[in-house]
Amino acid sequence: MLALPFLLFTIAYSTCNEPFNQILQKRSIRNCKKLATLGAEFGWNYNMGNNTEIDIIFGVNLKETPSWVAWGLNPGDEPQMVGTKAIIAVVQPNGSLSVETYSITSSTKIGCELLPSVVDFEVKRKEAESSNTSDYFTLSATLVLPSAKYNISNLNHVWQVGFFADGLQPMQHPATLQNFDSTDTIDLIAAKNHGIGRHRRHLRMVRTKNSNSIQWLR
Ligand SMILES: *[C@@H]1O[C@H](CO)[C@@H](O)[C@H](O)[C@H]1NC(C)=O
Ligand SMILES: *[C@@H]1O[C@H](CO)[C@@H](O)[C@H](O)[C@H]1NC(C)=O
Ligand SMILES: *[C@@H]1O[C@H](CO)[C@@H](O)[C@H](O)[C@H]1NC(C)=O
Ligand SMILES: *[C@@H]1O[C@H](CO)[C@@H](O)[C@H](O)[C@H]1NC(C)=O
Repeated sequence: MLALPFLLFTIAYSTCNEPFNQILQKRSIRNCKKLATLGAEFGWNYNMGNNTEIDIIFGVNLKETPSWVAWGLNPGDEPQMVGTKAIIAVVQPNGSLSVETYSITSSTKIGCELLPSVVDFEVKRKEAESSNTSDYFTLSATLVLPSAKYNISNLNHVWQVGFFADGLQPMQHPATLQNFDSTDTIDLIAAKNHGIGRHRRHLRMVRTKNSNSIQWLR
């Protein structure tokens, strides 16, 4: 009986790779999902209020040393590149990482320059880290989402990595940015996609019944 919560916890977390889970645990991020492309993984917490706050962390394995990493939300009806409000981390010539918000438009798609701009949600604590020790390039932030525009049960998110950059500008790569098609619709509450929802529900039940036994999670 006592071992049960640990078993369920392991199942829930095992949906992401172990090195990424360790990054999540350090940051107290409780939910995670492997994304369908680019070997990317996505972790989050949410906090419902007048405006919904979500803590997000997006990570890709560093094997291919990208010059930029992008993750964003599309408030429109479709999970697609055009219309996405993105957070992009760009490796600077001196090795530091810039993290700015960008609006992806149809001009971006045909090759116009993409420079930082304001987006329709507040972004706090945006940071990026490229760590040899974890082998991950991560992008993290807290977003304050106006609930009229963003429904966290039905969020269109979009992600991409690229290998060229010019200052703060992530550059198009014929085979990547133009096909900014790494997209998904995710339910942050139920995490229904890809089967992790069921595990999550078990985990929540266990936590309410016997929260002491999983305190090491925090
Ligand atoms: C929500 O908004 C109302 C009215 O502006 C305010 O009184 C309340 O404190 C807010 N609640 C939270 C959790 O921020
Ligand atoms: C590195 O370059 C960026 C952008 O040019 C600049 O903002 C930052 O201060 C530089 N950092 C260091 C440590 O020189
Ligand atoms: C991290 O990797 C970069 C690029 O491969 C290398 O130049 C740097 O020395 C490494 N840093 C550490 C601390 O291993
Ligand atoms: C949010 O999305 C969920 C799932 O699609 C839906 O059931 C719910 O009605 C939506 N909420 C609002 C306020 O639109």
